[in-house]
Amino acid sequence: MVNNQKVELPYFDQLLEGFNQGNTELIKTFGLHVHWGYWANPNTADGSIDDFATAAENLTRRVCDAGGVADGQKVLDCGCGFGGTIASLSDRFSNMQLTGLNIDPRQLARAREQVQPRNHNQIEFIQGDACQLPFADNSFDLVLAVECIFHFPSRQRFFQEAWRVLKPGGKLAICDFVPLKFFRPLMNMAANLLEPSVSNTYGKVDSSFTLDTYRQLAQTTGFTSIVEEDITINTLPTYPLLKRLQRESGYEQSANSTAVAEWISRLGILRYLILSYRKNL
Ligand SMILES: C[S@@+](CC[C@H](N)C(=O)[O-])C[C@H]1O[C@@H](n2cnc3c(N)ncnc32)[C@H](O)[C@@H]1O
Repeated sequence: MVNNQKVELPYFDQLLEGFNQGNTELIKTFGLHVHWGYWANPNTADGSIDDFATAAENLTRRVCDAGGVADGQKVLDCGCGFGGTIASLSDRFSNMQLTGLNIDPRQLARAREQVQPRNHNQIEFIQGDACQLPFADNSFDLVLAVECIFHFPSRQRFFQEAWRVLKPGGKLAICDFVPLKFFRPLMNMAANLLEPSVSNTYGKVDSSFTLDTYRQLAQTTGFTSIVEEDITINTLPTYPLLKRLQRESGYEQSANSTAVAEWISRLGILRYLILSYRKNL
């Protein structure tokens, strides 16, 4: 059942408005993937849109690879945005059944328009809430959530739902902004102070889950951890580009929120992690 409650995602309103106005720079940057970039060597980042687009594709690949993606699998991408991860999988692999799920029908419409199957793959885009998955038990080899779990109503419910729809031995791979445990009280304080400005840009965001909380959640859900990789440093070149685009589009408050996220990431207080899990047999 689709949760009909409208989810506020102001940055997607801004993106769609920019796309409609024909902002080609914005379309090239966030028309397919809407997440941070991954640079194997961050010193090589040149600040260009093309460089960022490659880095965004690389981030998707890192997450999918952490989930052990392979030809012939049935994959569910939760919070699929404009379909970038599904497109990437369809380009790289064959004979897959690929499903993108999103709460926002506007994004799904764009995904359906721009992502066509290749390599004997099948693709479908479905509206739904990642915490109430409209799929049968034991139906997927891999469940993905690329840079979106912080929006979901509950990480616990999402993990339970991912576990339910995965086949035994199936995998869950995500990436998320994870605070250092020691700094969590400071982060919570900062989150409260910054809440209005962050929610005006990014909507509801919960970045309170530490690595320890993830470990406990995985264990109680019935997952075994496979990958815990800190890629914070590899994502940092995202910030200057994002701030520039936000300022050029007149979203000064958004640029300020991004600057705060950059600051706490550079200090190592907020880390960018790739995490993957196997459903216990
Ligand atoms: C930062 S975007 C990432 C999009 C995509 N995964 C990507 O990497 O390009 C976050 C996504 O989460 C989606 N989302 C937010 N809450 C959701 C929910 N409860 N269920 C499904 N998708 C949700 C948003 O609509 C948005 O597409």
